[in-house]
Amino acid sequence: MLATQQPVLRRFWYPVMPLEQLGDGPQPFRLMNEELVLWLDSEGKPHAAEDRCAHRTARLSLGWVEGDNIVCPYHGWTYDGGGGCVRIPQTPDRSAGRAKVRAFNAEARYGYVWVCLGDPLTDIPHMPEADEPGYRVIHQFYEVWRTAGLRLMENSFDNAHFSFVHRESFGQFDKPIPAKLNIVEEDFGFRFETVAPVNNPPLQKKLLKMDSDTTERHMTSNWFMPFGRKLNIRYPNGLVHAIITYATPIDDEHSMICQWAYRSDSEEDAPAEQIIAFDRQVTEEDKRVLESTDYDAPLDTASGEERHMPSDQPGMVMRKMLLALLARFGEEEARISGARIPMKEKAS
Ligand code: FES
Ligand code: CO
Repeated sequence: MLATQQPVLRRFWYPVMPLEQLGDGPQPFRLMNEELVLWLDSEGKPHAAEDRCAHRTARLSLGWVEGDNIVCPYHGWTYDGGGGCVRIPQTPDRSAGRAKVRAFNAEARYGYVWVCLGDPLTDIPHMPEADEPGYRVIHQFYEVWRTAGLRLMENSFDNAHFSFVHRESFGQFDKPIPAKLNIVEEDFGFRFETVAPVNNPPLQKKLLKMDSDTTERHMTSNWFMPFGRKLNIRYPNGLVHAIITYATPIDDEHSMICQWAYRSDSEEDAPAEQIIAFDRQVTEEDKRVLESTDYDAPLDTASGEERHMPSDQPGMVMRKMLLALLARFGEEEARISGARIPMKEKAS
């Protein structure tokens, strides 16, 4: 599936940028190949519009914010949050007329600007830990990966990769068969619970305050269609490490990885910096392999293009549900043959 070619995917919310990055003025972001300008108004509410002035096409993201509006850096045409041109400095006595740029839905939530390019099909998922006392938030990663959202989502729920991809962090190489899952399908996603045995390397021992060489993760997983997931991990000592990861589609082969965590312990128990360091190692292990896969994963699992095994179940359900979503909105799956990302040139 090529994310940018499926109009229905424009009707979901995606986190696009940490709010704090907009503190110094407007910023550009490419979402599903749409060039956007993002800015905060005087009350701190985010806005998103086409990053292309209606006058001579200059990038509004090079401009500045004045009150609630954005000012073009070229001749100063000024647009409000709805994309309407409210001021043309060269003709102050005439109304700005019909000049406008396209504006999109934007919301602030969980420390990010979220954007929906169309008429939203569903809300931004609710994260109870964000309001519950006893949790702290740790912002972990905001970075571009050369992989498609579907690849990252499948990987997130694929417990068969632990023993291989993560054998140097927490995976148990000698236990390659994950537990069978009971997946509960929802309107726009799914959930399941499972238990996975994992290794407990030295840094984790310290962060979890658990001395054993191995432990168990009790995991509650949520998939938020199309490219969001939540993984709530509870360890046997009661500690909760819940991670939220979005693969926001920049284009068909690049995703902006937005990951943050809620932790039930305190900064004194486990410094955020060390938690990020451990999750960084795990994430790099995933990244290396994911960036080696074809970016156009087929939704039609019967096509014979890829072979499957029973532990692929979450990814199979995901593909089936996405195919049903496309059908519901009268769309065919868009594909490209040989959608392989070339190996990065090795530095010589
Ligand atoms: Fe924006 Fe002229 S290009 S005001
Ligand atoms: Co992984």
